Amino acid sequence: MLADLLKESKRAIVYTGAGMSTESGLPDFRSARTGMWEMEDPSKVASVTALNQHVERFFQFYKKRVLAAKEAGPHEGHRILANWEEQGLISGIITQNVDGFHTIAGSENVMELHGTLRNVHCESCGKVYSNDRYERDEFYCECGGKLRPSVVLFGEMLPEEAFLQAIFESEKGDLFIVLGSSLTVSPANQFPMLAKEHGAKLVIINMEETMLDDMADLVVNSRKIGEVLREANDMLSRKF
Ligand code: APR
Repeated sequence: MLADLLKESKRAIVYTGAGMSTESGLPDFRSARTGMWEMEDPSKVASVTALNQHVERFFQFYKKRVLAAKEAGPHEGHRILANWEEQGLISGIITQNVDGFHTIAGSENVMELHGTLRNVHCESCGKVYSNDRYERDEFYCECGGKLRPSVVLFGEMLPEEAFLQAIFESEKGDLFIVLGSSLTVSPANQFPMLAKEHGAKLVIINMEETMLDDMADLVVNSRKIGEVLREANDMLSRKF
């Protein structure tokens, strides 16, 4: 059915969460037992307060994530999405993920709602560095300011350009495909509803149920995203 919906759609947009990268070996946030927020309190490690009041713990938490993202990489599902964009099957990807795997896999129109782990920047002067600094335990700028990943911390605004582009795509699309998100974090979780309000068909592919499943035209629970994308891709290549 996903293959049929993609073939019928004029403008499909994909929306990914951390469930898109678990098959690359990166933990998500809220899966039972393995989710990152099962082990850490996000307010203590991923918030503006953490950066200001628990900075050593903040540095170590993000150093671990920078190293994990560097050791991992896109899986076949990321590459399938990049091919679908190249074939004009999807117009782009709205992602909450900060690992950069969609871009590395070749996707071009990627809206990183929560920023990226691939750079760090100085909290004081704004200078941008590669995240190699974190690998070398270099956590301070030449100006003396703290270096922090260019991700959106809890308590911060989302990057305006990505946010506005995501609104544009969600309003224009006639098919909105959610891959691997619990849809619990706002404002990122507004986009599936915005697309639905503008007449798009909503597809949710997620291991566990989400709070928007009742609004969706197609829900696929309890299956891995990689398998679902591979099957849809095989069907599409047979049909074309
Ligand atoms: N296939 C299908 N679904 C999967 C897979 C998989 N291989 N792996 C995990 N999932 C599902 C889980 O069941 C879970 O419901 O992906 C979902 C991931 O949800 P979260 O862990 O909440 O991740 P996400 O929705 O991206 O979180 C949003 O929260 O902490 C913030 O900034 C962080 O961007 C993140 C935001």
